[in-house]
Amino acid sequence: MTAPSPDERALWNISYGLYILTSHLDRRLNGMICNTVMQVTSHPMRISVCVNKENLTHGFISRSGVFAVSILADTAPMELVAHFGFKSGHDVDKFADLAFQQGATGSPLVGDHCLSQLEARVLDSMDMGTHTVFAGDLVAARVLAQGTPMTYANYRQVLKGKVPRNAPTFSANRAAQANEPGPTSGRAANTSPRHVCGVCGYVYDPEKGDPEHGVAPGTPFQETPPDWVCPLCGAPKSAFTPA
Ligand SMILES: Cc1cc2nc3c(=O)[nH]c(=O)nc-3n(C[C@H](O)[C@H](O)[C@H](O)COP(=O)(O)O)c2cc1C
Repeated sequence: MTAPSPDERALWNISYGLYILTSHLDRRLNGMICNTVMQVTSHPMRISVCVNKENLTHGFISRSGVFAVSILADTAPMELVAHFGFKSGHDVDKFADLAFQQGATGSPLVGDHCLSQLEARVLDSMDMGTHTVFAGDLVAARVLAQGTPMTYANYRQVLKGKVPRNAPTFSANRAAQANEPGPTSGRAANTSPRHVCGVCGYVYDPEKGDPEHGVAPGTPFQETPPDWVCPLCGAPKSAFTPA
């Protein structure tokens, strides 16, 4: 008799925070969203992170031996999470137009919408197959502001955020559930429905359009330009479904 496979839904009750994990290599800076930061010991103060091997940040941490964590406040907008969590430094320079400081390790530290910053030097790493767990000694830490840290639950429930495949907590089952048709805007479904991005959860509202990217308010989704992309994560129009 074979044992029943573990019920994946049990994992969905694990709590996490949400962080910008950064590192550098030579003069290049990079960062990504990470929910797998934890304090490992207090004497000495040590923290760990779990990073997908395909992420540029993984290569930077492996080679530089340092990383930093900027702890997001619950005021952080979806745009900030999408910037670091749905784009890769393989494709874009995420720090090109963003305010940051470089700390003791040389890693970039984000201040806006962040409560604290931590910097660590890698002590050891553990190969987890698709991911590596890096554990490090805390070499610097500072509190920037009082506030409530962003939680993973808040991100999913309030910001309606999703997680990409590279995140350790990605679940194809959960993603499929989230893609089920949601509530409509209250208008007849065939007039001008809102559309939701299947990658990051951004909702295109035809009443608002996307004026920043040349789509006037009142433009139905079908009439947005063929090369229009999700303003949050850059996914193509084909990634959208009616909300
Ligand atoms: C809410 C959320 C949580 C995430 N958590 C992790 C994580 O803990 N580890 C990880 O490797 N990727 C995680 N990711 C995915 C990375 O942020 C994403 O793959 C990013 O584009 C990698 O960027 P890079 O290639 O510039 O390093 C998460 C993404 C989101 C949106």
